[in-house]
Amino acid sequence: MAEDLHIVEQTLEQLGAETPERVAALFAEVRADFDRAFGSVTDEASWHALRDGWLGRKKGVLRLITENWLKPAGPALKPAAGQGLNELRAYVEGKKFGAFTASATLVAEKLDLSLPGVERALGTRHLVRQTLEEIERIFLRLGYAVVGGPEIETPYYNFEALNMPEFHPARDMWDTFYVDTPPGTPSQLVLRTHTSPMQIRVMERQQPPVRVIVPGKVYRRDNPDASHLFMFHQIEGLAVDHDITFADFKGTIEFFVHEFLGKNAKTRLRPSYFPFTEPSAEVDATCIVCSGRGCRTCKQTGWLEIMGAGMVDPAVYGFVKYDAKKVSGFAFGMGVDRLAILKYGIDDIQVLLQNDVRFLRQSP
Ligand code: PHE
Repeated sequence: MAEDLHIVEQTLEQLGAETPERVAALFAEVRADFDRAFGSVTDEASWHALRDGWLGRKKGVLRLITENWLKPAGPALKPAAGQGLNELRAYVEGKKFGAFTASATLVAEKLDLSLPGVERALGTRHLVRQTLEEIERIFLRLGYAVVGGPEIETPYYNFEALNMPEFHPARDMWDTFYVDTPPGTPSQLVLRTHTSPMQIRVMERQQPPVRVIVPGKVYRRDNPDASHLFMFHQIEGLAVDHDITFADFKGTIEFFVHEFLGKNAKTRLRPSYFPFTEPSAEVDATCIVCSGRGCRTCKQTGWLEIMGAGMVDPAVYGFVKYDAKKVSGFAFGMGVDRLAILKYGIDDIQVLLQNDVRFLRQSP
């Protein structure tokens, strides 16, 4: 029994309890004492002591209350004593004394600080996202802004304003997904085949100087294989101002290649054709797999094509009401998924979309 709980050894009369309220107050005192004892239990032995002290047949607190309070109580206090005792018993037994006396619960609930921790598998950023962000950071340092745009476009932005009127053969450079639209829709819609339509949207809403990059998803009606996806990511770049030259273009690209692939990576420009740039170029960089010596990835050339680019064709300025005599600029577009697999030495681009956790977990 709780040593200092002397009140249960006296009768209600001896305790001077004359009203049911007083009796209830005494039960509250007893219950508080139980709570204190319950809170200070630390091991199996003290559990047993608590159990015996309260539920013991001969000298447990509940037994003593029955003998000393309930039995001798007169009719005025008997109901209060009976009710108080029932509630106290329910409370004490409700603490799962039985289970605790079997000691299993207490042992099970004990915290074993020596156990090894539970390892949590932390997620990582997808390789494509990491690559996008890495490229964004390089251009942010050069003062470029990052903007996003719609993946569903009108042919006007995807082709026409980029200097490709309807039936222009260059449209065939991009195998296009057309979106089914309800009759009456004002324009045909396409999934953008490149991020270049954002060149137009950006120039429509701001005057030079323009310095933006546009990361985003693009779609092409290609059959997926080791080097083709029907959805992939591009980063478009556009710089337009009053005195931008081809040298600025070259310098910017070289800076990017050095930052992205390392100081030893070289850059080379090959003449090419895009309807919206003139002159146009394909940009090659030293093959990162073989450092330029020649390997399977670069088809023994030592070079990898990393982007299409060029000086913005003056005809494009006409679509956005820029004065082609006063402004000049350059644009480029690169395939992020391809850069990611080259940089990380992956030989099949399709793993980027398969979401195999064994692959995803290898992301640095
Ligand atoms: N949009 C072109 C493509 O997807 C790349 C490009 C962008 C070329 C900007 C020139 C200027 O192939």
